[in-house]
Amino acid sequence: MIHPSQRDKENEPAYRREASGPMCRPPFLGGNKMVRPVIAGNWKMNKTVAESVDFAKGLRDALTAATVPEVIIAPPFTSLGAVAEVLRGSSIRLAAQNLHEAPKGAFTGEISAGMLSGAGCTHVIIGHSERRTLFGETDARVNLKLRTALAATLTPIFCIGETLQEREENRMKPVIERQLKEGLNNFSADDISRLLIAYEPVWAIGTGKTAAPAQAEEVHGLIRGWIADRYGKERAAGIAILYGGSVTPKNVVDLMRQPDIDGALVGGASLEVASFVQLVEYQNIQGV
Ligand code: PGA
Repeated sequence: MIHPSQRDKENEPAYRREASGPMCRPPFLGGNKMVRPVIAGNWKMNKTVAESVDFAKGLRDALTAATVPEVIIAPPFTSLGAVAEVLRGSSIRLAAQNLHEAPKGAFTGEISAGMLSGAGCTHVIIGHSERRTLFGETDARVNLKLRTALAATLTPIFCIGETLQEREENRMKPVIERQLKEGLNNFSADDISRLLIAYEPVWAIGTGKTAAPAQAEEVHGLIRGWIADRYGKERAAGIAILYGGSVTPKNVVDLMRQPDIDGALVGGASLEVASFVQLVEYQNIQGV
């Protein structure tokens, strides 16, 4: 008979089973994982320039040198320049929510990677489920956008995740694997090391239904295992995989305790300075 602890070991992704020493990813909070935790706020279509500036000032003044995670905010395009001014000299990073893959041209309403870097962005969210479902972005298009971002030395936050229907039809794994395979098509090991991945189950976004920590961990392990199989355990261990979908100060700690969850991509709870600061300072939340 297999002892339960043995069975757990066998069910573990290969990269972790074989790993020892620094390759082990213990279920510690933040600092002891292989990568620095990341807390990113995706504002979506919210906040005027004045509101964005107020928020950025509030956040900048609330964070201290002791803040552990890398902090990223993604205001709407119209606020990027003004927010970049406020964040100048701070460690808070600025992300855009989308880009167009062409460098310039007749694409009314679109924004290029060069425009984003020029406005002060270091990061860009690519393949968010709202872009995929509401604006018809395909995996192939996401792949082009990821390449464009990397070429412009912007760090992509590459979003993937299954819909409720796909999960209920037991298609979560093939959907995630397809999004990884097609989104990262022809990516070298160096390319892989230059992006962040966000797992955002579509059924958990803006619904108040967070994936249970173990449910999220299962998919994060799958993603890291997929990368390890193709690019090696070391690369896989060094990639930050964020969870997104109704993350709040109430559930962030249990999520961050999971060995393969390195951070959070937050929508609703990133819109108020107070709740976003609580998320950023999750290590101070009672009981941790
Ligand atoms: P939510 O959004 O936190 O409001 O669920 C997350 C996201 O869409 O990135």
